[in-house]
Amino acid sequence: MAHQSDIYWLSVAAEQSLIPISVKKNPRVGAVIVDKSGLAVAKSFHEGYASPHAEKVALDKARGKAKGATMFVSLCPCNHIGKNPSCCVEIINRGIKRVVYSQVDPNPIAQGGVEFLKSNGVEVNFVKTPKKFENINNRWLKSFELNRPFVTAKIAMTLDGKIDDKTNKRFRITGKDVELEVHQIRNGCDAIISGTGTVLLDNPRLTVRYPKRLKNAYQPIRYIVGDREIPQDYFIHDNSAPTMFTGKRTPRLILEDLLRLDVRTVLLETGSKLLKDFLDHDLVDEMVLYVAPTIIGQGKALVEEILQANSNREYKISSVGLVGKDLRIKVSLR
Ligand SMILES: NC(=O)c1ccc[n+]([C@@H]2O[C@H](COP(=O)([O-])OP(=O)(O)OC[C@H]3O[C@@H](n4cnc5c(N)ncnc54)[C@H](OP(=O)(O)O)[C@@H]3O)[C@@H](O)[C@H]2O)c1
Repeated sequence: MAHQSDIYWLSVAAEQSLIPISVKKNPRVGAVIVDKSGLAVAKSFHEGYASPHAEKVALDKARGKAKGATMFVSLCPCNHIGKNPSCCVEIINRGIKRVVYSQVDPNPIAQGGVEFLKSNGVEVNFVKTPKKFENINNRWLKSFELNRPFVTAKIAMTLDGKIDDKTNKRFRITGKDVELEVHQIRNGCDAIISGTGTVLLDNPRLTVRYPKRLKNAYQPIRYIVGDREIPQDYFIHDNSAPTMFTGKRTPRLILEDLLRLDVRTVLLETGSKLLKDFLDHDLVDEMVLYVAPTIIGQGKALVEEILQANSNREYKISSVGLVGKDLRIKVSLR
């Protein structure tokens, strides 16, 4: 059984991992170094793609106090040299006596850390992630299992289930609070996929802009699918985010393309055509549905026209909540 103090310090490490605004293309990782007397001498977190790993930051903060101490880290330390030096080598060189970790890194290039540490005299223990934090890297971990990016579809609909009003005019379904929340969802993703249908009709920016502190954060890739040309004066051509355009292609090819760019989490912000194609190919993992208290009568219906073909799927509601005047339902598809 895990020691209570190990669970406590792993919770502190997990809390650290939640500090950065975003960690694009990378997992959230936090670390704490605790000395022989049981005092925390350094706490740290990983700030995302190409930033120093949490272990290295903690070791630099702890300096000489790392010798003989225990490192608690939320993800197993890596043993490869990439954009950063091997964390295991740093841990050994700095004299850490024991490492306690709580999540296994599924990334093939990060393997071998535990064996390497043990063979160099470091005691290593695995302790299960404290319950409250076990979902922190869920979508990132799932992406390795699926060998493709994890796909979240954001869908706004009216009370009578319509996702657009078929008038070919821009039509806002949900309120301001949902708009703000969607910026946070975008911020948690490596790429946003949209179709030319949506871009031509709505002229969306597809960037993270609220709250203001997110504006300068690393923007997700805007990935636009479809053969039609988008006029140069549309927002999608501004330089506010990396943007890719690709002709009409299957959802599987779209995801393969994004995986080659190290994209692990994507958000679908599409109209019914592309959304249906992803659902038909069984390539949506989670839906975030926003239901507005409006009835419009006419329009494209989510249930009849899009979801019906997928009615033999297993859907699980993972959470329900109010966002301003609208309802949010999170649905997991496996
Ligand atoms: N309620 C919501 O949450 C929500 C979200 C987004 C959009 N919308 C609404 O949806 C409407 C636009 O609907 P839409 O269906 O035209 O937009 P869409 O699904 O975003 O775009 C459809 C277009 O994408 C291209 N495409 C590329 N690969 C495809 C594939 N594998 N499968 C299907 N399409 C592919 C095709 O364009 P090409 O002909 O150029 O090849 C197709 O016409 C707008 O009214 C918009 O406001 C609603």
